[in-house]
Amino acid sequence: MVEYICSRGSSLRLRELLDTTCRLANTLKKYGIHKGDRVAIYMPVTPLAVAAMLACARIGAIHTVVFAGFSAESLAGRIIDSGCKAVITYNQGVRGGRVVELKKTVDEAVKNCPGVKHVFVAQRTDNKVHMDDRDIPLEEEMAKEAPVCAPESMDSEDMLFMLYTSGSTGKPKGIVHTQAGYLLYAAVTHQHVFDYQQGDVFGCVADIGWITGHSYVVYGPLCNGGTSVLFESTPLYPDPGRYWETVQRLKINQFYGAPTAIRLLLKYGDKWVKTYDRSSLKTLGSVGEPINHEAWQWFYRVVGDSRCTLVDTWWQTETGGVCIAPRPSEEGAEVIPAMAMRPFFGIVPALMDENGKVIEGNDVSGALCIAQPWPGLARTIYGDDQRFIDAYFKKYPGYYFTGDGAYRSPEGYYQITGRMDDVINISGHRLGTAEIEDAMDEHPAVPETAVVGYPHEIKGEGAFAFIVLKEDTVQTENVKEELKSIVASKIAKYAVPDHVLLAGSLCRKM
Ligand code: WTA
Repeated sequence: MVEYICSRGSSLRLRELLDTTCRLANTLKKYGIHKGDRVAIYMPVTPLAVAAMLACARIGAIHTVVFAGFSAESLAGRIIDSGCKAVITYNQGVRGGRVVELKKTVDEAVKNCPGVKHVFVAQRTDNKVHMDDRDIPLEEEMAKEAPVCAPESMDSEDMLFMLYTSGSTGKPKGIVHTQAGYLLYAAVTHQHVFDYQQGDVFGCVADIGWITGHSYVVYGPLCNGGTSVLFESTPLYPDPGRYWETVQRLKINQFYGAPTAIRLLLKYGDKWVKTYDRSSLKTLGSVGEPINHEAWQWFYRVVGDSRCTLVDTWWQTETGGVCIAPRPSEEGAEVIPAMAMRPFFGIVPALMDENGKVIEGNDVSGALCIAQPWPGLARTIYGDDQRFIDAYFKKYPGYYFTGDGAYRSPEGYYQITGRMDDVINISGHRLGTAEIEDAMDEHPAVPETAVVGYPHEIKGEGAFAFIVLKEDTVQTENVKEELKSIVASKIAKYAVPDHVLLAGSLCRKM
């Protein structure tokens, strides 16, 4: 039995999900979307968003889910780069009690995207939004379609989806995952990393706009016939007990979330956790950024009552699924706090020194590479094979370079030490410092900018911007605020620097 349970409490069985998926797939086909076409999905975590992903997969179209917090400009950039023919969205979203104007953002984005022929608009709220000729009321059209749609036959190496992620240079890249290898890897890691058993309720609270949502909300649990929770809200809404109330109500067995939320929640004290029954929990998982000891201990002792396995899982958009994790399904496996520990089956890590030589032995640190391919490895960057080679395979020929550094302990366990490039990680969201700089460079009074990450108590890392102003600028405080709103409107709110510091000049290392 497969069941999706929404954090609001409604549930959807496999049969209904399949019907919805088929109706949506038929609607896409009716409007000229076929195998190989690209479709952008700009929706929060809802059953219909999952059906939209699966509908694309069913007809062989390639979905690119864009996190529904991204700006119109970010959305447009992704639509143009991937050549999307259609966008699927809602009239509005509701997040943390606030209305989010999704359709308005899409309208603004597609103004600059002539390739988009249709925008499918589903209803999330009762409010009416402006509809253009190219806009199609999704549910109305789906109701006219049959709940049956034969799946397109695909080659195992055909594209399943692409997902944009940040690198240290240039614009975000469309990471390409393919049909068979990705699915296999998502399913096998879902089972073994989290010790998922048939009948368990799997609660991954990630957004489907990120790879964690793809692999552990949608594809992994579905492949394993599991029940997957869709969490649409935020950890603080309506109060800091939201996660644990959800665990109690839905009897969640595996809870998978980000350290940034744990760090935030621990500030509110234990009472929000202890109010709720968490006896269903078996495995806790952490992903997306390093988990510090305080957060690990609180998650383990308070949330998990010191009886659940806590797995710190290291992986990336490019790796398709978890690559290094304590692997609780291994009999008697020991777990060391705040350590990703063991490579998953088929993953062969290697640590490299500055000269590109493999570092042998234990109690050593180096650049984390993976020495042989595995099914979940991304196949390319959409439209730019050479960039894929340059970004991941050039620095250490014959190896996949992750961009992260790692330490191998005396026992041979791996601990991730952080990025070695200009990628920063704000609340588990990956961002190139160059992207923020490029956005700020648009300001007419700011000829030069430099952004670095700095340690942040809750977010893990925050962005710190140094800027140089043109000599005749007088309203310096205004400029700082303008810069922040440029970043929010060009990228997303989470990318806004916490600090903007005026500097006389910026001296860069060449
Ligand atoms: C970081 C998220 C430390 C790392 C699944 C990686 C981590 C980047 C961990 C990928 C972890 C992810 N410990 N760092 N357990 N998990 N990272 O593509 O720097 O959004 O390269 O994928 O997040 O982020 P991405």
